[in-house]
Amino acid sequence: MKTQVVIIGSGPAGLLLSEILHRHGVESVVLERSSREHVLSRIRAGVLESTTVDVLRQNGLAARMDVEGHPHDGMRIAWAGRDSFFVDTASTLGRRFMVYGQTSIQEDLYAAADRRGQPVLTEVSDVVLHDFDGAPGARPFVTCVQQGQALRIDCEFIAGCDGFHGVSRRSIPETVRREYEKVYPFGWLGVMARVKPLPDITYVNNPRGFALASYRNEKLSRFYIQVALDDQLDAWPDERFWPELKSRFPAEMAQAIEEGPTIEKSIAPLRSFVSEPMRYGALYLCGDAAHIVPPTGAKGLNLAVSDVYYLSRALGRWYGKGDASLLDGYSETALRRVWSSVRTSWYLTNLLHRFPHFSAFDQKAQEHELDYLKSSHFAQAALAEQYAGLPFE
Ligand code: APR
Ligand code: PHB
Repeated sequence: MKTQVVIIGSGPAGLLLSEILHRHGVESVVLERSSREHVLSRIRAGVLESTTVDVLRQNGLAARMDVEGHPHDGMRIAWAGRDSFFVDTASTLGRRFMVYGQTSIQEDLYAAADRRGQPVLTEVSDVVLHDFDGAPGARPFVTCVQQGQALRIDCEFIAGCDGFHGVSRRSIPETVRREYEKVYPFGWLGVMARVKPLPDITYVNNPRGFALASYRNEKLSRFYIQVALDDQLDAWPDERFWPELKSRFPAEMAQAIEEGPTIEKSIAPLRSFVSEPMRYGALYLCGDAAHIVPPTGAKGLNLAVSDVYYLSRALGRWYGKGDASLLDGYSETALRRVWSSVRTSWYLTNLLHRFPHFSAFDQKAQEHELDYLKSSHFAQAALAEQYAGLPFE
């Protein structure tokens, strides 16, 4: 086989890239390790920055989002013993964000790929990247195995969109890669429940630990609570989950939380991770393949979209005008936005969680940070700008 761009991974980054490249007249083949059913069943965050919404709209991917998604004007922060406050992105910036589950985006992307006959090879194994180091005369290609058959795909570029555990990042020599990592001493238990959500996305800092109430639709809520890293799912039956969740919210909000059937539960650790550079020769990394953020602030999908925006623009410029300047600048441009969101999600994680090893000093400083945020219009405006998302360069 032969194509212009081999895209490894059919998560949001890989499928969105194939869609935008197609609109630029650039052809691609997507390789996916799992089955389509598996990819479509994953539940992740659901807050879309206004720039993400714009990218989806500009590329004909927003029809369902514009009907089923829920625009929000801001988010709420609460903590034990004090009144909550609303960080208003609409009035401070004139920008709203959209609550629309990543599972739905993944469905929309697969449907769009089907409509245009995009080659997506699923359940492939043994993906190996070859001759992509940019040496003069080198012609990149990717090999893999599908249904027992060995495949070779010749290409001009490789896009590594294969998530944190993928093969692409690890194919860059260790002497070139620089990795930055922070692992947090707790995880999040995430629960989907068929109950009416609270009106606002609400983040809570409580002595019992962090909690978050989020939104899917009028009858579907997503909740999270901070749990110990070694906690197991079977330690969290519904009879334990609901009272623990409510105990972390201020009383009047706890009263408004409806209990009901839970339809999914999972525990995930929290980590910040960045691998630099995001380009090596003909290989370009996008999304979780290059960076991970803790879910506080829901930046993961938004960063995947901004990487894809920059890479598709750069490849469009190369194929349209023979101009490589945006490709050459890809890593630096993408990383500026990555670090901005890495910083925001690290800040929110530090602000809102209870850290097992916090000293009395750390605790006081955290509480005063929250007091400052609550009382300062300027501090809220800075957070609102980060939360709703910065414009693209
Ligand atoms: N070969 C082929 N495909 C692979 C390989 C491999 N060796 N390794 C991983 N994959 C596939 C995975 O099965 C997955 O479907 O790559 C895909 C990567 O998708 P995501 O993990 O969803 O990553 P990304 O597209 O960058 O999306 C980032 O997803 O994890 C969330 O919070 C994150 O919201 C963010 C978004
Ligand atoms: C979610 O809706 O799943 C969600 C919302 C906000 C976050 C993380 C997750 O910060």
